[in-house]
Amino acid sequence: MDKKVKSCVFISGNGTNLSYIIKNSRSYNFPINVGLIITNNNKAKGLNIAKKNNIPFIYIPYKSKGYFERVCLFELRKKNIKFLCLGGFMKILSDKFIKSFNGKIINIHPSLLPKYKGLNTYKKVLENKEIYSGCTVHYVTKKLDSGKIILQKKFLVAKNETEESLKLKTLNKEYLLYSQSIISIFK
Ligand code: GAR
Repeated sequence: MDKKVKSCVFISGNGTNLSYIIKNSRSYNFPINVGLIITNNNKAKGLNIAKKNNIPFIYIPYKSKGYFERVCLFELRKKNIKFLCLGGFMKILSDKFIKSFNGKIINIHPSLLPKYKGLNTYKKVLENKEIYSGCTVHYVTKKLDSGKIILQKKFLVAKNETEESLKLKTLNKEYLLYSQSIISIFK
């Protein structure tokens, strides 16, 4: 693709979704490239992925939502970023920030939204004896894990499922779903 959309991924932790987005972005037909990585956690393991792939990254301390978002917007504009993916970014963005970025922000969550927003998703799914679980990619709004759904992947919860096995299963489905969602947005 001649003109890929210059994008930024926000992370707070392991960044395994980030690594798949980077990998897929190297395919000719993938619509975005990752030009910047931002984290609120200077110990995020995902920063090693940024280093390994030679992608610029910035740690912005979360002194307050206002401070974090002001610095983010400055850096995003400086690098001419047009699209934002949240990959395990554990903060809620303000309406003002989302609007000033034209709403072009998407997120992945490890449940079949609108079920099980927030933290401890796997625990809640198992406690409620769900037959199915899944993952969701959606547009970001100021409300936690809400916003228009782009794509969802649904799968069976095994009889002997544990939080750890469900987490692994979900993450493995997330990688493809995230890239499929990005492709579908720019079609
Ligand atoms: C993923 O499972 C993602 O769905 C979840 O954090 C994990 C990040 O993993 N996001 C949320 O819970 C957002 N509410 P990663 O850092 O290895 O990509």
